Amino acid sequence: MCGIVGIISKHNFSIKNSLLKSLKKLEYRGYDSVGFATKDGTIKKDIGFIDPFIEKTKDTETNLAISHTRWSTHGGITITNAHPHANKEKTIIALHNGIIENYLEIKQDLESAGYLFTTQTDTEIIPHFFDYELNKKKQTMQKAIQEFFKQVHGTFAILLILKNQNILYALKRDSPLVLGIAQDKFIFASDIYAFSDVTNKAIFFEDNEYAIATQEKFTFYDKEGNEIKKNVQEFSWSKEEESKQHYPHHMIKEIKEQPETSNRLIQSFATIQKNRIDKLVQLIRESKSIVFLGCGTSYHASLIGAILLSHQGINCRSNIASEAESFVSYDKETLCIAISQSGETMDVISELKRAKAVGATIASIVNVPYSTIQRFSETSIEILAGQEVCVAATKTFTNQVIVMLELARRFGYKINMQTISEKIKQTITDNEEKIKQLAEELCRKKDIFVLGKGMSYPMAREIALKLKEIDYIHAEGMMAGELKHGTIALIEEGTPVISLVPNDNKDMLSATQEVKARGAKTIIISNLKDKGDIIVPQSDTAEFAIYAGIIGHLLSYYIGVLLNVSIDKPRNLAKSCTVK
Ligand code: M6R
Repeated sequence: MCGIVGIISKHNFSIKNSLLKSLKKLEYRGYDSVGFATKDGTIKKDIGFIDPFIEKTKDTETNLAISHTRWSTHGGITITNAHPHANKEKTIIALHNGIIENYLEIKQDLESAGYLFTTQTDTEIIPHFFDYELNKKKQTMQKAIQEFFKQVHGTFAILLILKNQNILYALKRDSPLVLGIAQDKFIFASDIYAFSDVTNKAIFFEDNEYAIATQEKFTFYDKEGNEIKKNVQEFSWSKEEESKQHYPHHMIKEIKEQPETSNRLIQSFATIQKNRIDKLVQLIRESKSIVFLGCGTSYHASLIGAILLSHQGINCRSNIASEAESFVSYDKETLCIAISQSGETMDVISELKRAKAVGATIASIVNVPYSTIQRFSETSIEILAGQEVCVAATKTFTNQVIVMLELARRFGYKINMQTISEKIKQTITDNEEKIKQLAEELCRKKDIFVLGKGMSYPMAREIALKLKEIDYIHAEGMMAGELKHGTIALIEEGTPVISLVPNDNKDMLSATQEVKARGAKTIIISNLKDKGDIIVPQSDTAEFAIYAGIIGHLLSYYIGVLLNVSIDKPRNLAKSCTVK
């Protein structure tokens, strides 16, 4: 994870209003600590969010600086471990997104050569490595970079500066890195969003490339040092409303935006995204097997897709991307459909690379345009949910499920897509007050079980995930039928069990009775009038998943409000997981 921004400019710019303002846009990538370094060797860093850091930073101007917002991988959340890191003399300063896998070996070698390490990070090897190459081996910077690519294993997007030199070095393998080309400056960042208000011209780095930028020009090289020509891409990025408006948190704003965001997506299927959907449908028809890949909430949406398409007779499965290597083998007749809000999730990207290497076809369903996963795909559906600021995925989940419903519809599944947005609105207005009361009952509970079956099983997982990530409550999303094979032993007097019971599903009703008989406090979510504690609009089982999800999201939100937790930025998390 981690977000990085570096700027080299013809003119001086403000650290606060330019560099850190751009960095702030990448805070979703991690918010454990923040730091920057300027050309004159000044390094400032602190733990915590970017806003308080900006507030206490005394503004300065420079024409070259680099900055970093961290999601910790190696070494605790301390000021010492915050990036940037430097050699002893503070003449070589670097920051990094990724993981250097063989950092211990390199560190040992450097320690034997007399270098002292002061942090627990893998990143600290970078300035010492370059110090060794430049000052002990007397290599040129170009040779040192090529040596770095040779010796270092792992993933990295690195920005590096040398004190008092007007040059910015940028290196990339696996972790995302893009160059923004503005009138008087070059901006290197983890994604285009960081500079989308400054320029719409960008060059995306591919793996094992590096760039050297001065105030006047930039040059790209492959890892052997051969100069390469790169295409400048013009992107369009609609300026999103990022404020919370009158809402106290982004999460509730994003939940309540869903009538509009879902409608925007549904209408796009017959208009601006028709060709993309047609292409994906064609690829599904032509492939022998379909493998959905996703993580977290996106995996839950993909499970619904796999169930729906399997019901239409398509050979389809869904896998958690980080575990797919153990279960899935690909070939030329496989179609991999990656599903990812950010389009940058490293677990998914790694698996796509494995699939592509044996000739599988890659398609994707993403929210963030121009993301790595989208650029990797033969066709990519955009879920058009708009920017999602809260770390917890809500409106993007709903739209992912809507894409699944549309795909299934194209293969014969009967559904009226045009009423979904209205029913989403009804789900929220009918239930919000009831959910606030339920939140009062549940907010002090240590464990909550959520039961589902078939299409509602992914929803059980999804609701449990939200209770964990937002409210820090232990929650288990279970297949109802599995309960009696062990977990039911945990049910005691008053244990809360949320049952997802669409259309009087008999198995779900039995499972609910079984836990009730053992003292559980059951909460039934149903789509039939008078058949549950929370009632969502009438729908079939697949559509029910959308409305039940919204109930779960609202519940986790209102519990979070009562617990006074950091709802939009939960502890230990990041919006985009760009490391394995
Ligand atoms: O960007 P992606 O959709 O690939 O992210 C996948 C997961 O990291 C993400 O869904 C995560 O589980 C959310 N925080 C859940 O709310």
